[in-house]
Amino acid sequence: MALILVTGAAGFIGSSVSRALLARGDSVIGVDNLNAYYDVTLKEARLKHLTADKAFSFRKLDIADRDNMLKLVEEFPAISGIIHLAAQAGVRHSLTDPYIYVTSNVMGQTALLELARRLKGLTHFVYASSSSVYGGNTKLPFSVDDPVEQPNSLYAATKRAGELFGFTYAHLYGIPATGLRFFTVYGPWGRPDMAAFIFTRQIIAGEPIKLFNRGEMWRDFTYIDDIVEGVVRVLDRPPVDERKIGGAPPHRLYNLGNHRSEKLTDFIAEIEQALQRKAKVTLEPMQPGDVARTYADIEASRRDLGFEPSTPISIGIPKFVDWYKDYYGV
Ligand SMILES: NC(=O)c1ccc[n+]([C@@H]2O[C@H](COP(=O)([O-])OP(=O)(O)OC[C@H]3O[C@@H](n4cnc5c(N)ncnc54)[C@H](O)[C@@H]3O)[C@@H](O)[C@H]2O)c1
Repeated sequence: MALILVTGAAGFIGSSVSRALLARGDSVIGVDNLNAYYDVTLKEARLKHLTADKAFSFRKLDIADRDNMLKLVEEFPAISGIIHLAAQAGVRHSLTDPYIYVTSNVMGQTALLELARRLKGLTHFVYASSSSVYGGNTKLPFSVDDPVEQPNSLYAATKRAGELFGFTYAHLYGIPATGLRFFTVYGPWGRPDMAAFIFTRQIIAGEPIKLFNRGEMWRDFTYIDDIVEGVVRVLDRPPVDERKIGGAPPHRLYNLGNHRSEKLTDFIAEIEQALQRKAKVTLEPMQPGDVARTYADIEASRRDLGFEPSTPISIGIPKFVDWYKDYYGV
């Protein structure tokens, strides 16, 4: 039975991944600082489902608090895998509070890597990156082989830094590490600062939806169950150190996306259909830091991981809306 450390365990993806690990018989140590970037009661509600399982332990910790993070090595020396998902997320917020991105995402990544190198039985360090590292790239779909030197936001820059740090630790200490570039994840227990959540709330409240870039926006929306499946597949497939045969250190990057770039207005139409209500929209200019289009090339993820996302928005959105109505009693 494996013992897996999951950071960001009270978050959207972290709580969903923890649930999947527990369901297959792994033990999970969840870490999260339960910060107030969005509704803390939603984070607590996600955690409540996890703490009901005896194989789940929780530690309320800030990942940037390196001394207390390192104590986890003594407390849980048998950790065999790390899934590091805690981060300050959100592109727009990084324009108002840049420092928290450096603390949580850059110092946090360093603290996790330092922890990883002290764990004797660690087989894999898996960490979250983001599609936002592709920044101003215009070649579509975005491939992990493309250059990523044009981050449009500080959030994207901290995520790119995390990838470089991951490579460095794989090179220096031989830690098998994999970075995952997630593409706009949505679904039940989702994040209140993201499109599916915001649009659903606004349509129900009769408030207008702001369509940035006057609606000329496309996103590769990826359903949470497909992401969870991808993360678990990655965890079980640590990269091999190929340096002895003239290859690379044990570090890989993968896109986890749906490989469908959907126009935002089509995404809204699915929510309208699920709610049986019409949205009011206002057309707004492009927001600083944002990108007009994301689209994942998932060839490498298919080839190496057997990753096959299977949920189109016509299936995923009704599931999200059902969860939303149930959770908020609307
Ligand atoms: N959801 C997406 O569409 C998406 C897309 C690209 C990348 N990502 C990345 O995936 C990861 C998970 O994202 P999510 O959507 O679940 O976000 P989330 O905000 O729901 O989850 C992150 C969790 O980390 C915790 N956290 C933040 N800073 C912390 C700190 N300093 N110490 C301890 N805990 C801290 C938060 O309290 C939160 O519960 C993040 O690294 C994010 O950058 C997400």
